[in-house]
Amino acid sequence: MGENVRLFADPEALAAGAADELIAIASDAIAARGRAAIALSGGSTPKLLHQILAKRGKSALAWDQVDLWFGDERTVPPDHKDSNYRMVKETLIDPLGIDPARVHRIVGDSADHAAAAAAYAAELVGSLGTPPVLDLMFLGMGPDGHTASLFPGTPALTATDWVVANPVDSPVTSGKTTRITMTFPAIAAARHVRLLICGHDKAARLAEVLEGPVGKFPVQAVTSADLQWFVDAAANMAKGR
Ligand code: 6PG
Repeated sequence: MGENVRLFADPEALAAGAADELIAIASDAIAARGRAAIALSGGSTPKLLHQILAKRGKSALAWDQVDLWFGDERTVPPDHKDSNYRMVKETLIDPLGIDPARVHRIVGDSADHAAAAAAYAAELVGSLGTPPVLDLMFLGMGPDGHTASLFPGTPALTATDWVVANPVDSPVTSGKTTRITMTFPAIAAARHVRLLICGHDKAARLAEVLEGPVGKFPVQAVTSADLQWFVDAAANMAKGR
């Protein structure tokens, strides 16, 4: 997989590059269509990106014309320590004072996970049409090669709906749980996809993903008209990159 890999010296440089991308892509979308739709990733890697965006302040982008979406969410309340929404709220929404009406939370704490997934898919289509074309989607890669909440061996890998509730039983999730996640068709519909991968703990898996046989890890199934892998030096162990 000779994908478009952009190398960065360290997590700070990678996050600054991702912030530049968000601002450039969102500004172009606003100029072209009057608004920008961005899907954020969960986990720890995006925190630095959000903090850099917050530091650059509201003048760096017409945030009032940006809709924030979530690539996936855990089935926990929005104030739970594991909530992706809580992480984004603390690192981006609150520091920038982003209008809550422009933040589209996945209702992970709903008692009916399938209904919550269907409602989010309907919200996406209601806002963006069919297919729901996001301007930019950030993704990460877990140690098992998952992305969003598309984990190895789970039903969501073959889902055709835009958003599904995905039963997961993985050491990464500390056992059985349900995640709500956008699917590969939703990712493929996005205009731009940026995979952010930092840290030595990702290096061996990333080398397998980018240089080994395809079809082994969920992240290898990510497609987009414009897919770029943002990799820091610590995660870049493979030869010739
Ligand atoms: C989540 C994310 C998940 C994440 C990877 C990488 O909800 O956890 O959507 O796919 O991107 O697990 O996580 P880190 O950035 O913490 O390594």
